[in-house]
Amino acid sequence: MFDIKKIRNDFPIFKISVNSKPNTFLDTAASAQKPQCVIDKMMKVYSQEYANVHRGSYLLSEEITSAYENARDIVKKFINAEKKEDIVFTRNATEAINLVAFTWGRKFLTKIDEVIISEAEHHANLVPWQVLRDEIGFELKICRINDDGSFDWDDFCSKLSGKTKLVAITGLSNVLGTVFPIKEIIASAHRKGAKVLIDACQLAVHQKIDVQDLDCDFLAFSGHKTYGPTGIGVLYAKYDILSAMPPYQYGGDMVNVVTYTSTTFDEPPARFEAGTPAIVQAIGLGEALSYLMNLGMKNIEKYENELSDYAFERLQKIKGLKMLGTHQSRSGIYSFVIEGIHPQDLAFILNKEGVAVRVGHHCAAPLVRRMGFESVIRASLGLYNTEEDIDILCKSLEKARTFF
Ligand code: ALA
Repeated sequence: MFDIKKIRNDFPIFKISVNSKPNTFLDTAASAQKPQCVIDKMMKVYSQEYANVHRGSYLLSEEITSAYENARDIVKKFINAEKKEDIVFTRNATEAINLVAFTWGRKFLTKIDEVIISEAEHHANLVPWQVLRDEIGFELKICRINDDGSFDWDDFCSKLSGKTKLVAITGLSNVLGTVFPIKEIIASAHRKGAKVLIDACQLAVHQKIDVQDLDCDFLAFSGHKTYGPTGIGVLYAKYDILSAMPPYQYGGDMVNVVTYTSTTFDEPPARFEAGTPAIVQAIGLGEALSYLMNLGMKNIEKYENELSDYAFERLQKIKGLKMLGTHQSRSGIYSFVIEGIHPQDLAFILNKEGVAVRVGHHCAAPLVRRMGFESVIRASLGLYNTEEDIDILCKSLEKARTFF
């Protein structure tokens, strides 16, 4: 049972008013608010349970090591990985994608290879591949998306070939809200012998992910978007692929034998977690993912889809509003402009009404330009949003129109 009143109550931030107005938070795609259980858990760890992990021979260190490794188990369960060793903790999804590019990519990509991404990628899944292309000389192909924001399947098929070594693609666009057909993309890429990386930053917030069913080779997401803390992210990879990858950073906790002349490295995931990790953040992420699993990702998806349909219909009725990405297969992210009003001015007015949205290119500047804009407003939903939030947004947009 999805009790939205109770759920909203789990998030203390909604007790705070903004500009003397109710807190209408519509920026979950940038970073989600945190439920009390995550805040409490992290407070408890810092105040009663804190020590370093994997190092101490005393009780607190042993217990917190178990808690940290238990968080890895929770992530495994959340995405249905085969084993917890498939899970590497990173700083965020950006670091997870960079890790793949500069370890797997540097080792396995050559100048005769091709990498495919899409026009809808966040800078985090575009720039690392550009930099690596400039270093190695492979061809970086950009698969088109259609004007309605959907994946251009024909263009993808025309670009995919035996030369493709990697397809790195988002599961859900952070600008268009489009859900990409990743299962089919993965199967097609595998038929050509390519590996597939899924940027699941937005997808993990809204849908159940099953990496074994998807059969993706890599998958990245961030803790702070999945209602957990900042400073923690996840890289999932199939274990045999992780085992073949060299380390990303070097230092403590990722080594076997160190002498003044040489060093041997630990197995994954430790090999990729050099230095003291984000211990409390990982435990906080575990708490957030447990919270989501208790609610049930399917229930969350159902609730959000209904709310998303409501938002889509309401927004479409606003005069002069032009939405980016109108394809049916979409989740609760709406980027738009209103004719005759600069997005920055619109965001300013919304803020006065207590409505939080993001404005700009949303770290996907080429995509926003490809859709014909330089800057757009983005409203994005989380599991705590209600029809009332959408009504307040639309009322504020109507009010803004009267000023121009
Ligand atoms: N990647 C985040 C966004 O889309 C910050 O807003």
